[in-house]
Amino acid sequence: MTTNKEIKPDAFSTPKIDLEFIIRRCTIEDLDNVIEVNEKELPEDYPYFFYKSILDDFSECFLVAQNRKGEIIGYIMWRVEKSPSINSLKFINKGHLVSIAVSEVYRRRGVAQALLSNSMTAIKKYKIKQYVLEVRVSNYTAIRLYEKFGYKIESIKQNYYRDGENAYYMIRDTK
Ligand SMILES: CC(C)(COP(=O)(O)OP(=O)(O)OC[C@H]1O[C@@H](n2cnc3c(N)ncnc32)[C@H](O)[C@@H]1OP(=O)(O)O)[C@@H](O)C(=O)NCCC(=O)NCCS
Repeated sequence: MTTNKEIKPDAFSTPKIDLEFIIRRCTIEDLDNVIEVNEKELPEDYPYFFYKSILDDFSECFLVAQNRKGEIIGYIMWRVEKSPSINSLKFINKGHLVSIAVSEVYRRRGVAQALLSNSMTAIKKYKIKQYVLEVRVSNYTAIRLYEKFGYKIESIKQNYYRDGENAYYMIRDTK
């Protein structure tokens, strides 16, 4: 059966490392599936309206990974916020990574890498100066991923998560 999703009008480049998935922009029809991936893969859950508002405001960098069957196997979403630069009192636009997850069976095949790299390019349209994110101090896998993309630990946010775990605040300047 042919669906609109298979037409992929605004698909991003298909990564060479794995031809079994594509990266494309998220649509409103994808949100339930994005939420499903989030709820399976991450302890942080958000209400539907939260995803919808990110999609409304920052759709350029809300991306999904889709397998050949048209199933959503991963997503990444960002928001843009104005906050003081670390080195000066000037306010700058920062791209804040809200969430990324890849379904467990599809991991270690470059899906997160493709989501991160395409979304980091896409979010530049919002004229950001820096990428920022929080990650659980125990989340070795994600920390390695971010380090691979040049993110550095800037500070620790104590009790950042609901269960009391600390977060690393990681940043990377845009180039
Ligand atoms: C973190 C996550 C998104 C990575 O997804 P993925 O598609 O498996 O990652 P990729 O295959 O693109 O890997 C890219 C890089 O991440 C790092 N990485 C990924 N999995 C890793 C693992 N099991 N051990 C060590 N490093 C790992 C590596 O640097 C890897 O590059 P390499 O393959 O050249 O070594 C995935 O594990 C996930 O969804 N975890 C649960 C949700 C989560 O923790 N999200 C982050 C919240 S801040």
